[in-house]
Amino acid sequence: MDSTNPAIDVDLLKKHLVEVSDHESELTDRVYESLFARRPDAVELFGTYSRANQQRMITETLTAVLHMLDQEHWLGEYVHAMASRHQFSYETPTDMYPPYAEAMLEALAAVTGSDWTLELERSWKAALDRVNEMMTAGYIPTSH
Ligand code: HEM
Repeated sequence: MDSTNPAIDVDLLKKHLVEVSDHESELTDRVYESLFARRPDAVELFGTYSRANQQRMITETLTAVLHMLDQEHWLGEYVHAMASRHQFSYETPTDMYPPYAEAMLEALAAVTGSDWTLELERSWKAALDRVNEMMTAGYIPTSH
């Protein structure tokens, strides 16, 4: 796990993360609206009263990005535990992760408005792809 990916501008993302944290509720609404439009079959994975967990999922994704930028070495293990809950408790298939990253990107651009830049787009995409990779790497291969 590292943030040495040249596509990621660490300082830019850290500054933007602070701004984004003021809009987490709107961000959450937008991410799930966009995710469910892309993957209607994801709706049924979420419980009827799971707003708190949905909000937590967004917060944890942003936090994972931040810890990744800070090269926190315990992050891999922490993410693997979350991945295991996704695989076995929520039955989230790995092919739902790319549309989730796309939905996050779209929502981040929307809450940022005219301040959104190509550099932000590129850095966020690389960071979210990396967190997704960490999540799916935590899936245990199963034979059917
Ligand atoms: C970066 C990727 C992701 C992260 C960091 C993440 C994180 C979380 C967290 C922290 C929770 C709260 C409960 C818990 O801690 O176990 C959660 C719940 C959940 N996540 Fe994710 N998640 C990710 C991607 C996804 C994707 C792609 C899907 C499927 C579309 C998904 C489906 C769910 C479901 C179904 C729940 C349970 C919600 C409920 O209680 O109804 N997650 N996620």
